[in-house]
Amino acid sequence: MSYTNANWAARAAKVLTGPQSNLAPPLPFPSIFAERAAGHRIFDVEGRDYIDLALTMGPLIFGHGHQRWISAVEAQLDRLPSPLPGQFHSPLEVELGERMVSAIPCAERVKYGLSGSEVVQLVFRLARAFTNRPYILRFDGHYHGWMDNVLGGSINQDRHLPPHPIDSPGTAGGFNTSTAGRSPVALLDQYKIEWNDAEALQDVLEKYGDKIALIHMEPIMCNFGGCPPRPGYLETVRELCDRYGIVLCFDEVITGFRVALGGAQEVFGVTPDLATYGKAIAAGLPFAAVAGRADIMELLSDRRVVGAGTFNCFPLGMAAAVATFDLLAEDNGAWFREVDRIQAYFRQALSNMAISHGHDDLFLQGPRGQIYVDFLKADIAYSPTELNAADAARRGAFRLICMDEGLSIGAGSRIYISGTMSGEDITEALARFDKVFARLPKPN
Ligand SMILES: Cc1ncc(COP(=O)(O)O)c(C=O)c1O
Repeated sequence: MSYTNANWAARAAKVLTGPQSNLAPPLPFPSIFAERAAGHRIFDVEGRDYIDLALTMGPLIFGHGHQRWISAVEAQLDRLPSPLPGQFHSPLEVELGERMVSAIPCAERVKYGLSGSEVVQLVFRLARAFTNRPYILRFDGHYHGWMDNVLGGSINQDRHLPPHPIDSPGTAGGFNTSTAGRSPVALLDQYKIEWNDAEALQDVLEKYGDKIALIHMEPIMCNFGGCPPRPGYLETVRELCDRYGIVLCFDEVITGFRVALGGAQEVFGVTPDLATYGKAIAAGLPFAAVAGRADIMELLSDRRVVGAGTFNCFPLGMAAAVATFDLLAEDNGAWFREVDRIQAYFRQALSNMAISHGHDDLFLQGPRGQIYVDFLKADIAYSPTELNAADAARRGAFRLICMDEGLSIGAGSRIYISGTMSGEDITEALARFDKVFARLPKPN
């Protein structure tokens, strides 16, 4: 007997506790159960297909089941699938490390983990140990995982007080900024200010610079609006970190292995001291890494800083990461050029389509491999504040109608572009988007 989505949902309600990752609200539909996926299509248990433009919120840069990626993972599954922590190294650790060090400007040493959330925490520890200072400075609209000390918190607008984030329940960009059960002291070793605002940063550093261990940021604000850094901003941050003796980390969990082989730091020519990787690094298996300066990373080799984990150096993840790297490096970066071509085509087609259906406020921006979709009359937005004027109701409706028309796009109104999407998938995706724009309520 084959089960329908409704059958599975009824069974799920008795044993599960909601969506797999509940940072964003679930779609207001009965749950859909995926049975299999191939290329850029996901098929549900009733046989309906969805074009996948969410790509697991970033990792699946080659879509589902790319043959060379599968072969690399299968070969490793036969050879040595499980990690051997503290007993043996695997040659894969070296092979991947050599690749990362060759491509990533800040990478002199690397250390592997399993998730972005986890490696971000390791960076916090490294920076505090290296500087012997207590505070981490992070920014509004950036996401660094679900742990107590990085989840949301809003900016304290009273400039006379130390800028600890305030734990105020709510959402930003549709994602929760707070959680019940957070430690009452989790936000007290943090500072939080506006990103892309060099003056705000200078102000805080003048007052508290000698207490700050680390400035941690997404170099492109992929988690909120796909906002780029203002021209010169990253350079200013680098300069200020040097002046105040602060460690700079770029959280490249989304930008890494997506915007360039060397990540956003390669694109902008600004080299942080440390960088975190997850998502696309292994193109669909759990894997993560920290890369950075040898003198900081050395704290791990001499065990002053503990970076433990039973599944660190997960061989299947490393095999997937090596295969991913080689696919991306092939033919002098052909995959990246293909992403650019597909992304430009999508952007142009979506803009034309929106206008032809009377939506003259479609707003698209984002780095290579990611398109943020909103409804706002502006050419560019550099911050969450600049996106405030967007039509949130239509943004929400857009994602819902997309799902209804068989287009799976990411929470936070994001479309992820892969360099392996077929012409047929692109044509079909655009035909479905056309129906979405036809159904979407018109601007007021
Ligand atoms: C920039 C960034 N850092 C960290 C994380 C956390 O990674 P994970 O979900 O693998 O724990 C994410 C996840 O979306 C992210 O986008």
